[in-house]
Amino acid sequence: MENKFKRTLITSALPYANGPVHIGHLAGVYVPADIYARYLRLKGESVLFIGGSDEHGVPVTIRAKKEGCTPQDVVDRYHNLIKKSFADFGISFDVYSRTTSAIHHKFAADFFRKLYDEGKFVELESEQYYDEAEHQFLTDRNIRGECPRCHAPEAYGDQCEKCGATLSPDELINPYNAATGNPLVKRLTKHWYLPLNDYQPWLEKWILEEHKEWRPNVYGQCKSWLDGGLRPRAVTRDLDWGIPVPVEGAEGKVLYVWFDAPIGYISNTKELCDAHPELGTWQQWWQDPESRLIHFIGKDNIVFHCIVFPSMLKAHGDYNLPDNVPSNEFLNLEGDKISTSRNHAVWLNEYLEELPGKQDVLRYVLTANAPETKDNDFTWKDFQARNNNELVAVYGNFVNRALQLTQKYYNGIVPECGELTDIDKATLDEFKDVKQNVEKLLDNFKFRDAQKEAMNLARIGNKYIADEEPWKVIKTDPERVKTIIYISLQLTANLAIAFEPFLPFSSKKLREMLNMDTFRWEDLGSTTLLPAGKQLAKPSLLFEKIEDDVIQFQLDKLEATRKANLAANAKANPIKETISFDDFQKLDIRVGTVLECERVPKMKKLLKFLIDDGLNKRTIVSGISQWYEPDQLVGKQVLFVANLTPREFKNGLVSEGMILSAEDWDGTISVTTVEHNVKPGSQIS
Ligand code: MF3
Ligand code: ZN
Repeated sequence: MENKFKRTLITSALPYANGPVHIGHLAGVYVPADIYARYLRLKGESVLFIGGSDEHGVPVTIRAKKEGCTPQDVVDRYHNLIKKSFADFGISFDVYSRTTSAIHHKFAADFFRKLYDEGKFVELESEQYYDEAEHQFLTDRNIRGECPRCHAPEAYGDQCEKCGATLSPDELINPYNAATGNPLVKRLTKHWYLPLNDYQPWLEKWILEEHKEWRPNVYGQCKSWLDGGLRPRAVTRDLDWGIPVPVEGAEGKVLYVWFDAPIGYISNTKELCDAHPELGTWQQWWQDPESRLIHFIGKDNIVFHCIVFPSMLKAHGDYNLPDNVPSNEFLNLEGDKISTSRNHAVWLNEYLEELPGKQDVLRYVLTANAPETKDNDFTWKDFQARNNNELVAVYGNFVNRALQLTQKYYNGIVPECGELTDIDKATLDEFKDVKQNVEKLLDNFKFRDAQKEAMNLARIGNKYIADEEPWKVIKTDPERVKTIIYISLQLTANLAIAFEPFLPFSSKKLREMLNMDTFRWEDLGSTTLLPAGKQLAKPSLLFEKIEDDVIQFQLDKLEATRKANLAANAKANPIKETISFDDFQKLDIRVGTVLECERVPKMKKLLKFLIDDGLNKRTIVSGISQWYEPDQLVGKQVLFVANLTPREFKNGLVSEGMILSAEDWDGTISVTTVEHNVKPGSQIS
């Protein structure tokens, strides 16, 4: 398909520089973005692929405190590690910079200042907790105090871990700074807000009407945000790590990390173009209507890239808006959520140490299992099977046969093509369609299917050579073998091109073995890529079988981590003090049927349930909205405490009991239910 734009600017989410990157990052964002960038480049289109590290934000400061170093030390370390991992995996950024760079600081501050000067922000003052000794305002998580409900002494500003109550810092009794223990006072603080509500009608038209072609997960999330109604969002924070707010009287305030980070896409483009004027100006890439902008991101970034950043660009004026935002769902690992804190992950730097030279295998498997439309699972067994049964047995096997036979029969020189049989013609015909098929899929960001299609090419080749059996025919009809090998070599050259976006290391190797000087997407389908008489280089294997012990090593490693987590968990949550049977009997736990479940306006953590408790209907409020869509729970039978003192929320809502749920180590919440349906009101004993 001809694309109507002159240039394509590809961005991929800037990863936080507070830890290394793992396979989930690669699968969700960087491999698809890289496939797309390589594809367009191979087509000869004008494209820039922008990356970089996201180096501000609270997690960096927390990590620095923990490690006893500065935030800058933390981001220096991880920026370099991440940058190297990406380079090692062939992620072909045109620039990989960072948000602590001087260019970015100035660019983001100027961006803010322009919006500020033009009155695009709303200024609001609110009372926040302040540590006078540290001269610091605190975020909810950094505040602790006595729980107003269960009186546990160390509840957080957003939640009590003892009783599970969802809290706001205001509700804590005797709040103190979690880091220093200092008591806190209330102090007025001013912040700037982007009034997203003002952009709502425009966003509705732009996304819901004009971008119906976006992936359903992206479109759906936008719609749900818009349906919920947008509210002003603070774009500044009281923090000492970040870009200072460039306004007088804003000392001690920085730009919110989600305000500055996406501007990093622009400042990184500027950094690149300033150093390489032959690429054009950054303005051409960002502002010329003939340039198109594509953001590759993970699903937790959708609202920022589809709603917040476009509103910032719109507020500024002059900028292009994203044409598409291909966002993936999440990748799990061995059936379990990837978790940095539990170390349940495959880290890219470790992968390369343990499986050197196997970058393409991982790229292949991650694309084959890409979580494009739903969460997907990475397993080491599948990794092994795809390597051994697809890369080695199909692609590698075909290429190796074609090249080895050329060496053996013709000293590595491409033979003459004789008259074509019907099978030859049919095989070549199948190849001709592939260009179009792969293109159509790539143009629609269907990377998984596109790679499958490329693999089909290899299957066709593999079948061809297996059916034609040149090693047998050589004894009876050596002239015929020339044609078989000639065709096999043309197919091999096609494969090198078709796989370049997906498996760049193997394609490079193959290209060198075939001595191909030109390498263009438009040559796909050609049957004359390697002319008769051309001398090929010495072949070597493209892929190697992966043995069981290699896989077992990886599985053992994950299992060891799992065991260590279990032990740590048992230590952190020891069994509570023994209680008497009488004490236990005071608790009235029952089964209730969920009749209704809905979100609570303005209290985004809460779900409000209407429960049939066997006698009456009662309302129970629970802070689990992060883990469930309301609809998911309607009709379920849940366990709840029926004789708890009712609790009133600030907005007057009263919760008459508590739904019991289990908390996994990583904080994931799962509601408890009964093994088979019982009468509502049934008691638990
Ligand atoms: N650092 C964010 C994350 O990992 C992504 C930032 S993307 C950008 O979720 F738009 F802010 F650059
Ligand atoms: Zn509590």
